[in-house]
Amino acid sequence: MAFPIDRPRRLRRTERMRGLVRETTLSRGDLVYPMFVGPGRGVRQEIRSMPGQFNLSVDTAVAEAQEAASLGLPAVILFGIPAVKDARATGAWSEEGIVQQATRAIKKAVPEIMVITDVCLCEYTDHGHCGVVEGDAILNDPTLDLLAKTAVTQAQAGADIVAPSDMMDGRVAAIRRALDAAGLADTPILSYAAKYASGFYGPFREAAQSTPQFGDRRSHQMDPANVLEALREVDLDIEEGADMVMIKPALPYLDVIRRVRERVQVPVAAYHVSGEYAMIEAAARNGWIDRDRVMIESLTAIRRAGADFILTYHAKDAARLLG
Ligand code: PBG
Repeated sequence: MAFPIDRPRRLRRTERMRGLVRETTLSRGDLVYPMFVGPGRGVRQEIRSMPGQFNLSVDTAVAEAQEAASLGLPAVILFGIPAVKDARATGAWSEEGIVQQATRAIKKAVPEIMVITDVCLCEYTDHGHCGVVEGDAILNDPTLDLLAKTAVTQAQAGADIVAPSDMMDGRVAAIRRALDAAGLADTPILSYAAKYASGFYGPFREAAQSTPQFGDRRSHQMDPANVLEALREVDLDIEEGADMVMIKPALPYLDVIRRVRERVQVPVAAYHVSGEYAMIEAAARNGWIDRDRVMIESLTAIRRAGADFILTYHAKDAARLLG
């Protein structure tokens, strides 16, 4: 069958018709809002390279979480900026760490929103690397213990999900073992399974002051050229006990999201990262693109590729538009 019998435009004539045959849905329940929490009170400082996003203190983070909940978002993910950084990333795993404090405060004031905590050391080390450093090497195995301690104190503070983003080998197994030993067998792990060494994290590193003082993250984050390696990382993390896996960044890696979605039986998340947000905001502020339209189109594309849910700085704005 072909033209003139076949006319695909018949199904595009009205919005009601297009809605009936739409293949991909995007709703508020698919979106997670990332927040940066640091010391102080009443802090709400805009991040230069992420206009519309803020460095917060615990009290203002609670207010943001409240707003996120009232917009119908299911979860926030917390990143900490500690008052002091040191070689052992004490601020990451201390019971009084900034993320542990913020988690307790949010779960107390807004129990209906889920708190996901990012498990990584880079925001808490004075050298800005994701693990224990010796010379110019990032040591894998000595780092696992600190990551496991971080996840346990976060879960004890009330985190609903812990999300390791460090890309050390064996960290999911180490975290699962430590959670279970601490009586936290019900806390799920969302692993950043395929996290690429990406230039798109630039604005995040400004916000979290986590740019490495020397070298880069290529010895643990993945080469942007690889996809088979992503499948291997995902398989290993699931074997080690990951309940959900994440691909990061999102838009430049839609093929990876698709390949992973077709391969695994666990939920797949995608992180629409800081640089992706910054590009949309910058072009929109120049009047070069229609921000709302490009935002919804981008998030829909990530869902179409196969992501079950999306971590995005656009979560609140998208929730407002989606109603
Ligand atoms: C590591 C971490 C990073 C991001 C999330 N978790 C930064 C990095 O790997 O350098 C980036 C998120 C973004 O760019 O929005 N704690």
